[in-house]
Order: sequence, then structure tokens, then C-alpha cells
Amino acid sequence: MERLEKLYEGKAKILYNTSDPDLMVQYFKDDASAFDGKKKGTIVDKGVMNNHMSSRIFQYLEGEGIKTHFVKNINDREMLVKKLDIIPIEVVLRNVAAGSLCKRLGIEQGMILQKPILEFFYKSDPLGDPMINECHVDVFGWATNKEVEILKAEGIRINNLMTKFFEERNIRLVDFKLEFGRHKGEVILGDEISPDGCRLWHLETNEKMDKDRFRFNMGNVEEKYQEVYDLICN
Ligand code: TMP
Ligand code: ASP
Repeated sequence: MERLEKLYEGKAKILYNTSDPDLMVQYFKDDASAFDGKKKGTIVDKGVMNNHMSSRIFQYLEGEGIKTHFVKNINDREMLVKKLDIIPIEVVLRNVAAGSLCKRLGIEQGMILQKPILEFFYKSDPLGDPMINECHVDVFGWATNKEVEILKAEGIRINNLMTKFFEERNIRLVDFKLEFGRHKGEVILGDEISPDGCRLWHLETNEKMDKDRFRFNMGNVEEKYQEVYDLICN
């Protein structure tokens, strides 16, 4: 399917219309950003790796009964996806304490959580993606109560499936972010699933293999993305 005019350009991806009003092309850039766009850079070939990793994971999830926007992989940087009316909520699942959880609550990084923690953040760069709860979602009309129930249930199911998927590849799924949207009356998983939006640690060494290497200038960013890519796609 040919891509037509640009519909939206985000920090890491571009969405294009197609001749089918229900479908879009999702193009993956090498641009990397962190801290709500305050830090910017490039991760060489990230777009290619994230496109293929996301395609592989969406296919896996679809095979396990999760509805996603993924239609097919087009080429190294493009994926055909269903057009979504995106719900402005980032659904974060955590299995191990890291990142903003540690900062917010003074929890030690690396603590294995007794049960997964699910959090909602409001998708807004100018506001720095603030944490919200179901009352905010309800009062400000970002999603219906029924949709919130779907976000929570699907978030937990996806966490179980992805934890298993990564563990089989010697990777610990520490935490990750999901985005959902509406398509023909259904709420389905959108965006991407890649080391940009997941914390992935080597199962034995706990070495970081995700965007934290870029966020905190840890070096070997491309090498670690490539390692995850090899474990997922080869
Ligand atoms: P956090 O610890 O910064 O709240 O992030 C938790 C996980 O969600 C981490 O894997 C990164 C991901 N995430 C994003 O990719 N984008 C975002 O805007 C947020 C809030 C989290
Ligand atoms: N992706 C988000 C941003 O660019 C958050 C992050 O990765 O730190 O701001």
C-alpha cells in the first residue's frame, strides 16, 4: 500500500495516510528523545530495529489473542497499521522497580515487585506526562469506564505474555508503556513495542539493554538494541 500525505509526526515515528481510510503507514525514525523531549539525539538504525522488533512482538501478541493495530510489515522502516483514535493515556506496567517509581516513592532500583503495578499517565509533553488515576480519566473524559477496564485487563494480559516472551530470550521485562486507541468501535493496542518504551535487563547480568542507555549516556546504545533485536528477530 502506497503512503500518501503525512498525518502526524511524533518524536520517533511518522504516520502517513494511505488510499484506504482505515489504514495508515507507521514510519520509524532514528530520532531518540527522552525526558519529554528535553534530551534529543540519534540512535543509528533504531528505526529499522524498532520496526522489526515491534512487528515481531505484535505478531506474537496477535497469535495469543490480543487485538493490535498491526496489519503487516512493509519494509525496513514502515509498518501498515489500522488507523486509531488514540486514547491520551500511557498505560505503564512494572514488574521490577526502576525509573520514576523509584524516584517518586524512594524504592530501591531492582526490587522485584510482589505483583505487577499498573499506572496511568496523561500523554502530554508540555505537562511532562503526569501520573493520573481513574478519577481524572473519568472526569476529564479521556476514556469511558468500560474502556478503562479494557486498558487494565489488556495491560495485565500483555504483561504476562511479554514477560514470558522476553524470559524465553534471556531478557527481564522490568517495565514498559502501552498506548491504545479506538478502531471501528473496539479498543486495540497501538504505537510500538521496542526498547524505546520498555526497560529490558539481561536476565543473568541485569545489564540494561534499552533506552536508559541513551537517557543516562551509558554508551553502547546501538549495540544493546542490536542484541535485543538479534534475540527477538533471529
Ligand atoms: P518511567 O519509569 O519513566 O515512568 O517509565 C516506565 C516505563 O514506561 C519505561 O519502560 C519507559 C516507558 N515510558 C515511555 O516509553 N514513555 C513515556 O512517556 C513514559 C511515561 C514511560
Ligand atoms: N519517550 C518519552 C520522551 O521522549 C519519555 C522517555 O523516554 O523518557 O519524552
